[in-house]
Amino acid sequence: MKRILIMLLLGIGVILTCGIFLKPQKMTGLKLCSTCPPGFELTDSNQCKLRSLYQLYESGKGNEPGVGGLRTALPEVRDGFTPQQIDLGRYLFFDPVLSGNQTVSCASCHQPDKGFSDGLKTSVGISHKPLKRAAPSLWNVAFLKKFFWDARAKTLEEQMTGPLYSADEMGTTREQLLKTLNGIGLYRDLFSQAFPDKKSDDIVLNEVYLAIAAFESSLISLNSRYDQYAHGYHEALTKNEIEGLNVFRSFVARCAECHTPPLFTNQQVAVIGLAEPDRSFDSGAARVFHDSTLRGAFKVPSLRNAALTAPYSHSGRFEKLEDMISFYTKGRGHEVPATEELHIHWHIWEPGLSSHEISLLSDFIKTLSDESFKPQVPEILPSGIRLKNKLSTRLVSSVSNIK
Ligand code: HEC
Ligand code: HEC
Repeated sequence: MKRILIMLLLGIGVILTCGIFLKPQKMTGLKLCSTCPPGFELTDSNQCKLRSLYQLYESGKGNEPGVGGLRTALPEVRDGFTPQQIDLGRYLFFDPVLSGNQTVSCASCHQPDKGFSDGLKTSVGISHKPLKRAAPSLWNVAFLKKFFWDARAKTLEEQMTGPLYSADEMGTTREQLLKTLNGIGLYRDLFSQAFPDKKSDDIVLNEVYLAIAAFESSLISLNSRYDQYAHGYHEALTKNEIEGLNVFRSFVARCAECHTPPLFTNQQVAVIGLAEPDRSFDSGAARVFHDSTLRGAFKVPSLRNAALTAPYSHSGRFEKLEDMISFYTKGRGHEVPATEELHIHWHIWEPGLSSHEISLLSDFIKTLSDESFKPQVPEILPSGIRLKNKLSTRLVSSVSNIK
């Protein structure tokens, strides 16, 4: 077992050496990757298929099936994109040229170094006005069936039309986006590499959406210390962390009922009864599903890489993991405004966790960190916009246009 793990971990170290400009100054000759990102295997039909030890448990051979089981199978994954589509999506994801005034990219609010979130309570886009909600992590979105805190989008493609065309986020229009991309010779060339069978020379929106979805779907994080433990390498977790896992799975704390392994979300929406930082009330999924029992319901977030994505909750109210976890133990409904009658989920109860147990839970959640498949930030973008500081993709103040 140890040997398999070491082999898997070695595979992780692969550094992408493709997607490099042959003549960087002139920005010509960019060839998209023809190999899959680490964790994926290239098929004969040039598709990248996910390979994970969890797939061994798919046929129900896992020895601990059921809620909280260590060897529960993964939900269906969205894979099968070509290496070229994934690589093109990487450029688009980091390129502020996609926004109305060329200052904000997807990566401005989903920064690789911040667990693909942004470290802010609620995000800020092109309008410099704080948005209503916090940016979720993008790790493992390939497994999700619904997107946004209120689950209002069914696909990654549908989701991204939100930020792209919102006046407060990226502030572009469909027409402007196509005009911009079609006006950049290098992008036209890259799109024909990624979509060799395309009918027209022009870039079309579905290709933009598909490439970004392909890149997002490559952000897989399933090699944490917890995973090594789940696959049978018991030394991967300390005694404290195992105790934390046991509290997490216990019928008293009930965390695993909603934050179900292996993704640490059951992908449902649930009312847990959080108040807003101001006196407003966010009705959450009620509006989306026209169901008043879902008033104040939000999607159960995955806890993978949560150690990297502070602050927490849809409104970014909690600075530390311990603060968020303490919420659960202060009494069912203790934050619900007097004017609201919420249908709080039956798994939210009063577990009476001690401060020791809260810190054990936090220690356990930190074992879910794994960035071994973190993609490279492009050195140079096809638009010619240069990322001044590769690590800081907070672009509003950090881009200069070198054209
Ligand atoms: C201005 C900041 C900002 C920008 C720019 C931005 N996002 Fe987001 N993103 C957010 C916020 C905030 C949310 C949550 C909004 C909500 O739930 O109402 C979100 C949600 C998401 C989700 C849903 C994740 C989940 O678990 O439900 C995905 C996927 C996503 N963004 C991808 C993208 C992509 C792709 C782009 C570029 C096309 C992008 N985002 C641009 C801030 C941003
Ligand atoms: C009834 C389902 C449910 C149960 C049980 C539950 N959670 Fe949650 N959890 C949620 C939902 C829904 C959210 C998002 C709430 C929001 O932002 O409004 C959340 C958010 C979180 C977050 C913040 C994650 C982020 O990225 O912002 C953490 C950490 C967390 N829960 C840990 C726990 C722990 C630890 C337990 C057990 C003590 C637990 N949860 C029990 C549903 C649940």
